[in-house]
Amino acid sequence: MQYGIPIVDGIYWVGNNDRRTALFESIWPIPRGVSYNSYLILDEKVVLIDAVKDLSLRGYLLRLKRLLGPDRQIDYLVVNHMEPDHSGAVPILKQMFPAMKIVGNKKTAQYLTKLHAIEDDIHLVADGEELDLGKRKLRFFMTPMVHWPETMMTYVIPSGILFSGDAFGGFGCLEGGIFDDEVDVQYFEDEILRYFSNIVGKYSPMVQNAIEKLGKTEVKIIGPTHGPIWRSNPAHIIDLYDRWSRHDAESGVVLAFGSMYGNTEVMADAVARGLSDAGLKTVRTHNVSTSHISYIIRDIWRYKGLVLGSPTYDAGVFPPMDALLRLLSTKRIAKRHVGVFGSHGWAGGAVKTLTKFVTDSGLDLVEPTIDANFRGSPEQIEQCHALGHAMVRRIRGAYQ
Ligand code: FEO
Repeated sequence: MQYGIPIVDGIYWVGNNDRRTALFESIWPIPRGVSYNSYLILDEKVVLIDAVKDLSLRGYLLRLKRLLGPDRQIDYLVVNHMEPDHSGAVPILKQMFPAMKIVGNKKTAQYLTKLHAIEDDIHLVADGEELDLGKRKLRFFMTPMVHWPETMMTYVIPSGILFSGDAFGGFGCLEGGIFDDEVDVQYFEDEILRYFSNIVGKYSPMVQNAIEKLGKTEVKIIGPTHGPIWRSNPAHIIDLYDRWSRHDAESGVVLAFGSMYGNTEVMADAVARGLSDAGLKTVRTHNVSTSHISYIIRDIWRYKGLVLGSPTYDAGVFPPMDALLRLLSTKRIAKRHVGVFGSHGWAGGAVKTLTKFVTDSGLDLVEPTIDANFRGSPEQIEQCHALGHAMVRRIRGAYQ
């Protein structure tokens, strides 16, 4: 095992993998773990860019010690983001390297105090400010709310490496390969979209601000705090982030439904058949009782069309569907065509709630809406099939 993997001469990846945590932020499943990327720059000044979670630190600290050798110390720790998956190890680093200054902005300083009781040796930087390391300089871009208020990015001159924090990163351990050209990039793109939609998506306007701010900066390599380093085609991941944060979507439909006794599922199958009959191959079906919401949100962020089906429960929607609607509202999903259907027994409520969600969210309601009593009539099942057709016509129309 190498002690640090060189990115370019004098700059190393020194991060670690988390194969122990089941739920990132105690919410989002990470079946293939997650990496916490940290980078060491050996110049006249020694700089660590971002730390790691306070978990499984043995390998991380060993890497740093071996790269530094017996005599060198860390001069600066740049904290691009204070969330504990990156700042958790800051207190122990402070103990190991007592002369180390922490580089951040005013908000970083506030959070260092409140999270870690660290108040001293903080080197404050502002937007556009630079820090001279000797052969290289660091330039700091303030990128608030991507993902917390203090978030910033660090650009290395002249290497052209952008250390971007959470932006452009995603779930999944780095299993030996750390660069985009060394890994299964499609897997990581899916997981980067899941990270984006689950965690950063609500702040899409701020992501757009960040992309605009980076505008004329020549980014040769992107080093995020999670997932692979983008060296072969950094423009590709910036382009994906740009599209995702504009809510631009691909041709396809997510069919998310709940069903207690199978009646709503029969309707969902009829919608699915309608989608297929209309020639659509990209259909992602989720039973909201069994699919983790993290994956449903990701697919909704990817595709233009959404069909929601729910039985009535306590005069409203089925609770797992209610959780999905709440999260979609919180994430401020936009620019989607949405169809709704559902069933009820003695009193309705689900379809009304679904329809209100669509109109209140400013989304495009695709007719017909179908509200079946128990298993629904043959005509209503036929309407579900027609909804599938109508959805395909709609996603092939607007927002292309
Ligand atoms: Fe990877 Fe917002 O922390």
